[in-house]
Amino acid sequence: MKILITGVAGFIGSNLAKKLLDREHTVIGMDNLNYGFLRNIDPIKDHPNFQFIMGDIANPLILKDVKADIIVHLASQKIPRYTNALRTLEENYLMLRNVVHKCIMDGSKILFASTSDVYGKNPNIPFAETSDLVMGPTTVKRWAYALSKMYGEQYIIANHDEYDMKYTITRFFGSYGPHQNLTWWGGPQSVFIEKAFKNETIDIHGDGSQTRTFTFVDDTVMALVHCIENNKSDNEIFNTGPKSDAEISIKDLAILIWKLVNGPNSEPKLNYIPYSTFGNYEDVMRRVPDITKLCNTFNFQPQWDLEAGLKVTIDWQKQFLV
Ligand SMILES: NC(=O)c1ccc[n+]([C@@H]2O[C@H](COP(=O)([O-])OP(=O)(O)OC[C@H]3O[C@@H](n4cnc5c(N)ncnc54)[C@H](O)[C@@H]3O)[C@@H](O)[C@H]2O)c1
Repeated sequence: MKILITGVAGFIGSNLAKKLLDREHTVIGMDNLNYGFLRNIDPIKDHPNFQFIMGDIANPLILKDVKADIIVHLASQKIPRYTNALRTLEENYLMLRNVVHKCIMDGSKILFASTSDVYGKNPNIPFAETSDLVMGPTTVKRWAYALSKMYGEQYIIANHDEYDMKYTITRFFGSYGPHQNLTWWGGPQSVFIEKAFKNETIDIHGDGSQTRTFTFVDDTVMALVHCIENNKSDNEIFNTGPKSDAEISIKDLAILIWKLVNGPNSEPKLNYIPYSTFGNYEDVMRRVPDITKLCNTFNFQPQWDLEAGLKVTIDWQKQFLV
């Protein structure tokens, strides 16, 4: 197949591109390198079936001269920590609108990267694809990201209804691994790994009892490969997460990472920062997926335990220590 990946120089995009090329697909990758890195696509840049186009997906002209069977739309602004909510709302909409119009014009399918954040504050764990999406007030800007993805999902389904555009929506639960962004943009794991290596105190937001599940990127990528190669994914939404017993508190994640980096007998340095320091911020206290639909549809099981995945990630991240 011919597959266009937006956000190819980012974390998931670069890992997915490599896997698709290994499986003998043709890949066109686009990125403006705002949050991605050329080093991520260095291993594939000379592959005969790979083409990289640098540019902004919010500009419709960039898509004009390419055509693919499927567009995997990963390029995105995330939770507005570094930028502002306006950019998250506007850029995510503009990019998606351009990709959707392109899919309708060319008869391509869209695979849209959504997020576990759309379940928001829903207290009923685990989340199935049919669960309620429970947002906080619009005055809290962290919800801008989830809202942009919820809007994206509705926008895609509405375009499917009107124009018969095929789609798959994947809601990722905390992916990590080689090529992850090394700042908070990539989630807590990369920041915790760096602090542990430097023997510096790890800052924990709140009391660290909030839980997450973390998916090693090979499992995230294999779920995407199934969605790309199997038409059972057509017009469906899939939670994309780890093995079922993967829930871990942020405090325990910090301790696990510290001990993997500095040895089992080392004493983790942790500092708890009250949420009130972040101003008008809300955290999600528990986030656990039900991935039955993904597993049953594709006869698929995630392979990686957190500890094994973290060891590979820690080993990869070593090279960036200064
Ligand atoms: N990584 C996760 O755990 C996770 C969890 C939930 C959802 N997601 C979603 O999955 C997708 C991929 O996530 P990721 O972690 O690989 O992110 P990432 O930031 O590493 O990669 C996204 C890439 O998109 C590029 N990009 C952003 N805006 C662009 C624009 N206007 N034009 C061209 N390129 C642009 C960035 O430069 C970056 O390389 C995103 O849509 C994200 O919202 C990721």
